[in-house]
Amino acid sequence: MKQDLILILDLGSKDNSRLARAVRALGVYSEIHAHDITAAELASLHNVKGIILNGGDNNKVDGQTIRAGEHIFEFGVPVMAIDYDAPSPYGVDRMPGDDDDALLVMLKSFVFDVCGAEANWNTKNFVSDQIELIKRQVGDKRVLLALSGGVDSSVVAALLVKAIGSRLQCVHVNHGLMRKNESEEVVEVFRNQLGANLVYVDATDRFLDRLAGVADPETKRKIIGEEFIRVFEEEAQKFTDIEFLAQGTIYPDIVESGTKTSKTVKSHHNVGGLPENLGFKLIEPLKFLFKDEVRAVGRELGLPDSMVYRQPFPGPGLGVRCLGVITRERLAAVRESDAILREEFELAGLSGRVWQYFTLIPDVTSTGVKDGGRVDEWPVIIRAVNTVDAMTAAVPSLDWGLLQKITNRILDKVPGVNRVLFDLSPKPPATIEWE
Ligand code: XMP
Repeated sequence: MKQDLILILDLGSKDNSRLARAVRALGVYSEIHAHDITAAELASLHNVKGIILNGGDNNKVDGQTIRAGEHIFEFGVPVMAIDYDAPSPYGVDRMPGDDDDALLVMLKSFVFDVCGAEANWNTKNFVSDQIELIKRQVGDKRVLLALSGGVDSSVVAALLVKAIGSRLQCVHVNHGLMRKNESEEVVEVFRNQLGANLVYVDATDRFLDRLAGVADPETKRKIIGEEFIRVFEEEAQKFTDIEFLAQGTIYPDIVESGTKTSKTVKSHHNVGGLPENLGFKLIEPLKFLFKDEVRAVGRELGLPDSMVYRQPFPGPGLGVRCLGVITRERLAAVRESDAILREEFELAGLSGRVWQYFTLIPDVTSTGVKDGGRVDEWPVIIRAVNTVDAMTAAVPSLDWGLLQKITNRILDKVPGVNRVLFDLSPKPPATIEWE
């Protein structure tokens, strides 16, 4: 194993992520674990050079104050305590407010001078360590992965292909609500370029049949989520010799779902919302990484930028961008107009500068004139937003000429569309998606 590790124990802090990122900013890998980590779990970790007890406002679970167990202090590495009011042998530091420089100074002396850790955290070493860990964990068994084509599941797939090759079995379920060429790219990259075992399931008809006539957004979401699990379960049953299920869980998914000391922000479903009772053991190699780090690992593994820098895409896909009852015609129009928008944004150099952009089609028509005759056709709405955490969002100002070009291309190329609108609404009060 190549990387040293500074372990952060969550004893009720809201600042675990900040602390973990600060340690990594010093070039040392860090992982956040629950306050009740056992001696055996601790012993199973590699190259632990130091432990930080991270106390704070949530220092109680069920009314009981959380204390670090004696085995933590007896483990034999330096222990630092932050905002933790039990006397630790190494004293208690306070988390410096918003001052990241002060935090780095405080951590630097602990991490390097006290613990003697080396600054050897980088994507190359991370990949090499994870490959070793996966090989040890999986042995000669097989692993199943639901490969959606999103950044996280794609990076997990690439990592597992490197680690266990053909003993990884990927399943890509195309629910018919993917963007243009998305499923084709998954097959091209993973089956043809990386040589992965990939079963491609075109379940378009099945999903669209179940969604027929359904207009309510939440019902649509529920149907898509349930149907995804059903299709995946049916596929999984075809393999009798698989012991593990790999998931693209990343650290923010864990934080948002609530840790042992913090309340749930929102319950988070991993790819496709797969239930845990599928009967497999879980492999989650990215669960300590933040999104930018996942992208860096993806690049290290040789995935194309189009996959690594893919913008967020809702699990229910174009299903929530074809407003109201989904029809094949409107779905095709959303897909085509979205492809035009994406192409033009990329050409204009906006793909890395605008956080999320897409088109959607409401279920109303308006009067227009084409070939000298009156038509009733749909409008296409362009949505483009910048945000840090998707909780609030602002609309970037865009070049008028670019918007006109996109409008003309959509009106010219997408059947059934006679207007293009641009949504200027920030979040709040609007959400990013329309459904
Ligand atoms: P809203 O519309 O709530 O979206 O402002 C915030 C971010 O979340 C994405 N989003 C979803 N992602 N399943 C997902 O996996 C969903 O049902 C879903 N709805 C919204 C949205 O694209 C945006 O990035």
